[in-house]
Amino acid sequence: MKTSIQRIRKAVIPAAGLGTRFLPATKAVPKEMIPIVDVPMIQHIIEEAVRSGIEDVVLITARHKEAIENHFDSNYELEDTLDKRQKEELAEVSRRVGRLCNLISIRQKNPAGLGHAVLCAEPAIGNEPFAVLLGDDLIDAPVPCTRQLINIYEQEGSSVVGVMSIPPQDTSKYGVVAGKALSERLTDVTHLVEKPAPEHAPSTLAIPGRYILTPRIFDCIRDTKPGKGGEIQLTDALQLLAERERLLAYRFEGDRYDTGDRLGFIDATLAYALKRPELAPGVIDLMRKHLAKK
Ligand code: UTP
Repeated sequence: MKTSIQRIRKAVIPAAGLGTRFLPATKAVPKEMIPIVDVPMIQHIIEEAVRSGIEDVVLITARHKEAIENHFDSNYELEDTLDKRQKEELAEVSRRVGRLCNLISIRQKNPAGLGHAVLCAEPAIGNEPFAVLLGDDLIDAPVPCTRQLINIYEQEGSSVVGVMSIPPQDTSKYGVVAGKALSERLTDVTHLVEKPAPEHAPSTLAIPGRYILTPRIFDCIRDTKPGKGGEIQLTDALQLLAERERLLAYRFEGDRYDTGDRLGFIDATLAYALKRPELAPGVIDLMRKHLAKK
């Protein structure tokens, strides 16, 4: 690690969106609390951050999303009752979640966009580089995706966005990057576009929701005008960052699931269930039963 490079200790998790693609489930339950098997999506995300070396998580939240904070707190009545019933293993499942990280929560008063949500974290981040993980993108990888990006940050000393190759017809779902290829996985980014139509996409390298950013991003967000959908887009602020300092894109290794989308959610549920030895045989039987009916 270069001596001047600060360690990445903090991560921002924006979770203040409305989750409209998942209505009616998200009317009263935060999208981030919907479980993949029995673990809420946001717990998977925070576990990735912690396994990547993150100590403090800055959660950007909104009205009616208190369930997220409660999940990462202790639950004395539950844990004490489980202890008294000699169900210490279950009590420990609950306690472990409460101990995962320091959670600092900040409210975004209006869902004014992902860029705006990241700017809300500035008082808790200060002048340090930090990670951003989006709450509805799961990435399953032996080396956590955020750790892969931190490794690049530590080698190169500049901001890094995680990217993946997508089919050309899907560009309008993502921020898309283009630039000069430095190696098979690394690109020096010159150009970013938020959700371009396929004919306007500068490449097929898309950002699914993992970033390491220097604190200079905050000024870039302040200088960014509302873009697509009238929201302050993080992709537009990243374009400014790329003009002001070096921004890299790293094609990470791992399987990514868009759990904010219905089919992506089902895909993630099956994949995560099949990874669990106690569930896999039963899930395969269920899949056979349903396929036989088709
Ligand atoms: P999305 O657009 O995927 O999430 O934003 P959404 O707005 O919750 O869901 P849909 O599209 O209406 O179904 C990506 C991430 O950015 C957060 C969201 O919570 C999500 O994790 N976000 C988005 C904010 O925190 N604030 C915003 O103003 C917008």
